[in-house]
Amino acid sequence: MVERVIEVEDLAKRYPPDTMAIDGISFSIERGRVFSLLGPNGAGKTTTVEILEGLRTPTSGRTRVFDVDTSKDYASIRGRVGILPQNFEPFDNLKPVEAVEYWAKLFDKRKTRKDINEMLDIVGLSERKNLLAKKLSGGEKRKLGIALSLINDPELLFLDEPTTGLDPKARRDLWKLIEEIQGRGTTVLLTTHYLDEAEKLSDDVAIMHRGNIIARGSPSELISRFGKTTVVVLEGVGTDGLTEVTRRGIEATEVDGDVMVPVANPSEMRTIFAKLSSIELPVKDMYTRRQTLEDVFLSLVGTKMDEGVLEE
Ligand SMILES: Nc1ncnc2c1ncn2[C@@H]1O[C@H](COP(=O)(O)OP(=O)(O)O)[C@@H](O)[C@H]1O
Ligand SMILES: [Mg+2]
Repeated sequence: MVERVIEVEDLAKRYPPDTMAIDGISFSIERGRVFSLLGPNGAGKTTTVEILEGLRTPTSGRTRVFDVDTSKDYASIRGRVGILPQNFEPFDNLKPVEAVEYWAKLFDKRKTRKDINEMLDIVGLSERKNLLAKKLSGGEKRKLGIALSLINDPELLFLDEPTTGLDPKARRDLWKLIEEIQGRGTTVLLTTHYLDEAEKLSDDVAIMHRGNIIARGSPSELISRFGKTTVVVLEGVGTDGLTEVTRRGIEATEVDGDVMVPVANPSEMRTIFAKLSSIELPVKDMYTRRQTLEDVFLSLVGTKMDEGVLEE
């Protein structure tokens, strides 16, 4: 039988006087899964997570973590949960080894020097463990935050935007770490506004927009349900290209100067290629690619998202 580590039913949160931060959402997370709340800034991700962390009270609805009502008896499960808060910053003047030691004491966990070294090794900070935290890079600070969130060997880990603002290399490093954490059996609730991150890491994704979950499923389910499977890209043909293509009755959209022609059924591919090749267009390149969550998001919300901000 599948075990649900988190169950959320009709959850709503209103901040006075009239901000509906969460407007009646439901989802559940099975043990061992990575589940992502994906959405732009202000979608309601942190509010949802903080209710599940026992830090905020819902306006209405039910939230259960490990089968415990989080608004009633959070104390009984707190020790099984790890938390990396949004915008986590370590104490500047503690070294990673000292920070882990301090955190362990706060949580009443006895950690030997060997345990501490092991934890720092897991998150990839072994070589930086004796440096003041203020000297660490953004990615290293987040890794330290994750080490601290793992201090009580949690069965469930909340990571609220763990990679926001990091450079691509640091983000990929953290992705690997999150995969390793899942590999050890930990259930992870991740929030992110990076579509590629949600696609790469999640078993299940809930796309949040204005306090609602507008779509839910595995990345590939979402792509096949809300996207077309393949897109033909006409690079660099711009709005003129779009006019030419749509004038011939082919459905297409323009994104950043490229024209995208979605192909629902692979058997249509030959006909579409033939039609497209007959049009005189100054194409830089023409190729096909699989759709991604980015396409799903664009078709559901109607605009692209950059660093969590919806484009006009
Ligand atoms: N403490 C608060 N008081 C009032 N409004 C808040 C508070 N926290 C968040 N909000 C509002 O609730 C909405 C959802 O915010 P949040 O949960 O932080 O979204 P996200 O994490 O997806 O960016 C936003 O409109 C935000 O301005
Ligand atoms: Mg947030």
